[in-house]
Amino acid sequence: MADFVGAIDQGTTSTRFMIFDHGGNEIARHQLEHEQILPRAGWVEHNPTEIWERTRAVIETALTKANLQHSDLAGLGITNQRETTVVWNRRTGRPYHNAIVWQDTRTDAIAAALDRDGRGDVIRRKAGLPPATYFAGGKIQWILENVPGVREAAEAGDAIFGTTDSWLLWNLTGGRDGGVHVTDVTNASRTMLMDLETLDWDDELLSFFDIPRAMLPEIRPSSDPRGYGTTRASGPVGGEVMLTAALGDQQAATVGQVCFEPGQAKNTYGTGNFLLLNTGEELVRSEHGLLTTVCYKFGDAKPVYALEGSIAVTGSAVQWLRDQLGIISGAAQSEALARQVDDNGGVYFVPAFSGLFAPYWRSDARGAIVGLSRYNTNAHLARATLESICYQSRDVVEAMRQDSGVALEVLRVDGGVTANELCMQLQADILGVPVSRPVVAETTALGAAYAAGLATGFWKSTAELESNWQEDARWLPEWDDERREKGYAGWKKAVARTLDWVEI
Ligand code: G3P
Repeated sequence: MADFVGAIDQGTTSTRFMIFDHGGNEIARHQLEHEQILPRAGWVEHNPTEIWERTRAVIETALTKANLQHSDLAGLGITNQRETTVVWNRRTGRPYHNAIVWQDTRTDAIAAALDRDGRGDVIRRKAGLPPATYFAGGKIQWILENVPGVREAAEAGDAIFGTTDSWLLWNLTGGRDGGVHVTDVTNASRTMLMDLETLDWDDELLSFFDIPRAMLPEIRPSSDPRGYGTTRASGPVGGEVMLTAALGDQQAATVGQVCFEPGQAKNTYGTGNFLLLNTGEELVRSEHGLLTTVCYKFGDAKPVYALEGSIAVTGSAVQWLRDQLGIISGAAQSEALARQVDDNGGVYFVPAFSGLFAPYWRSDARGAIVGLSRYNTNAHLARATLESICYQSRDVVEAMRQDSGVALEVLRVDGGVTANELCMQLQADILGVPVSRPVVAETTALGAAYAAGLATGFWKSTAELESNWQEDARWLPEWDDERREKGYAGWKKAVARTLDWVEI
């Protein structure tokens, strides 16, 4: 009898493998970073082969650490950075180009053109997304247009596309020796190519980007009792285990936070922030700058949708203080430095490094630090950076309230930045609602494990998962309304200064 479920979490900066028991407790993990390739301003790439090698290594090491083997695993799930685009040759297994990462802005001209001739509105209606560099469709188009030989190979069915879930599933199930070419509905919903109602690739959308259908993976449920395929004895798992779940990392975190009821929301604080509100079987179309996305689809059940506020730069703004400005030595020090002052001293930092995502969707924005006077110090900048994480989340919460009419009663949080106590207190103050962090902070991997275990019967129902969720910490708002609204008005003014900065 297999007592555990495994989950691969292929993220923007690292890949990890985690093993969970029936109570949702972590048994083992291993994690490895991969290189961030920055060939020019605005371009961000990963090496897909390096990602596959890291995936192999983390699986092997975590299994060894836990002294477990493939027969101890009741199923495997995979979750991944979404939108990041890989195109590879199915005969050789070799990528045609580095993966183009979700943060990459090289497709800004492709995205801007979509809104000049009405295609943008069709994409909004069918795919639920505003045309932007963020999504995979434009990145595939860029590879087809710029890498010699890819278009012919794609038309012949040899060059195939996938987000990193597909890339890893294909490799894990045998690669060029019969690997399966599949993705799930949540990842497919981030391409601008899938119709949210039919949950299938849409020919009109494909024609906007001139993408041959032959290069696209089959779209499957996020948790699939049929399984997508099995691992190979020669692979890192060391035997045959059924792969039964795949879902984008933010959707997986929503599952890990057991937000199964309409109106429940979570905010993940990583490189960026991603706030998802479960809207149930109802497809809510945003009028205030949010995305409509598939939250999950479990087996034959109807899909569950979400409204999402995607913020490109939050934790990576803290990294910028460390790596580019050198004013802190590590993320933890940002809290100590920011605590040296009681407020932001009038300083606002809008880290619009990749333009602004939700709810603004302005590729022409660039970052700004405003309100400086001679009095200000590094401590004010550190505090303004933490506040920027929270104000960007407030922008998204405001848009969600307007779109859905749902006023948040509590915000469930997870991700690396939630270890920063000051940042979480500021989040409660800036939102005016309590902020709650669960005991298992690795909600992304946990959500993929839950989806995999639901498919195999390891967990019988979502109710069983709900009973695993426990609160670890809660922050209550301390600011009065006047301070909260004055601070937010300052933020809005600062955001206005960042717009129209570059011409597209
Ligand atoms: O949409 C991008 C998102 O999936 C990336 O998440 O945690 O890898 O930064 P993360």
